[in-house]
Amino acid sequence: MGKKIEQQLIPRRRLYSGEEIPCMGLGTFGSDKYGAQAVSEAVYGAIKYGYRLIDCASVYQNEKEIGKVLKQIFEEKEMKRQDLFITSKVWNDMHGRVLESCQKSLEDLGLEYLDLYFIHWPFPNYHAPGCSGDSRNPDSKPFSIEEFMKTWRQCEELVDKGLVRYIGMSNMTIPKLEAVLPLCRIKPAALEMELHPSFQQPELFAYAVQHGIQPIGFCPLGSPSRPERDRTQGDVADMQLPAVAAAARAHQVHPAVICLKWAVQRGQIPIPFSVKEPQYISNLKSVTEDPLTEEEMEAIRLEDKNCRLVKGQVFLWEGAKGWEDLWDEQTENNGKADI
Ligand SMILES: NC(=O)c1ccc[n+]([C@@H]2O[C@H](COP(=O)([O-])OP(=O)(O)OC[C@H]3O[C@@H](n4cnc5c(N)ncnc54)[C@H](OP(=O)(O)O)[C@@H]3O)[C@@H](O)[C@H]2O)c1
Repeated sequence: MGKKIEQQLIPRRRLYSGEEIPCMGLGTFGSDKYGAQAVSEAVYGAIKYGYRLIDCASVYQNEKEIGKVLKQIFEEKEMKRQDLFITSKVWNDMHGRVLESCQKSLEDLGLEYLDLYFIHWPFPNYHAPGCSGDSRNPDSKPFSIEEFMKTWRQCEELVDKGLVRYIGMSNMTIPKLEAVLPLCRIKPAALEMELHPSFQQPELFAYAVQHGIQPIGFCPLGSPSRPERDRTQGDVADMQLPAVAAAARAHQVHPAVICLKWAVQRGQIPIPFSVKEPQYISNLKSVTEDPLTEEEMEAIRLEDKNCRLVKGQVFLWEGAKGWEDLWDEQTENNGKADI
């Protein structure tokens, strides 16, 4: 294994409370390709190397195995619970039973508290893990402010009970945030959102920052191993974008490293996934040395293609016109989405 990275070399981001957290984390969604054992071994190796933020979720079906390696890490006494920042998420089928879902994640992860707990999707629409892209659940419903706030209230109670330190939202849009933020007793500390060079979501990113909500970027490398249901014709391969490839040549690194440098210098917290030691090592190392120039940052900014990869079509409800409805986007076919 490569040399451990010193924590002081890893830039940090400040949450609304003033607390600082690492500028990069490790994703743990195996994309229906990597099993729980492989992912948990990567979590172990990554923490040993210097990762401190681990992005978990009950739907990734590996929290139990991750819990085993966390236990091992604490037993080795190199690190304490408070040295790590562990997230998890309530899945769509548990919106009415958030406490139960959180307790299950805590039990599986072997923890007494989570640092950050997300509502994974703002809909209670369930699909089975590993389903195909055209699978639909007849019980699916459009976004409802009332329903969402019922789930958020349960998240707020988790904070009151000391089970989680912060709560966050994921897969949101500006119209949805505008509707729910004024109703929150405890504000979201972070917004987990898809962010990579071909999908920069500049308006939502700026909105989050202006509201003191830290953007956490998923699919930061363009998710080259994503499941079939998240692949469509016309998807852009981020690591092949001309500005990314040019910077990779100039810095003599893999294009993945460029995507991550760009993400961190922009201010989001990327959570790249990898079970491969050389990959997760070079991913974290990327933030400690040789930053991109202003010109390279600008060239990558201009590569935005509004290319959403995780469209979420499996969560659509009857009567929805297309996946854009999930994102309050206007298209020729769906008219103006109202929430
Ligand atoms: N909140 C949400 O709704 C949501 C949605 C999606 C994802 N997430 C989170 O975000 C995390 C990251 O997203 P993701 O896993 O979809 O995509 P990603 O991090 O963009 O892509 C991961 C893949 O990139 C490749 N890779 C990683 N490091 C590399 C390197 N240094 N060089 C070359 N290739 C490299 C690996 O492919 P190979 O394995 O083929 O080598 C790896 O499987 C997830 O694990 C999950 O924690 C959250």
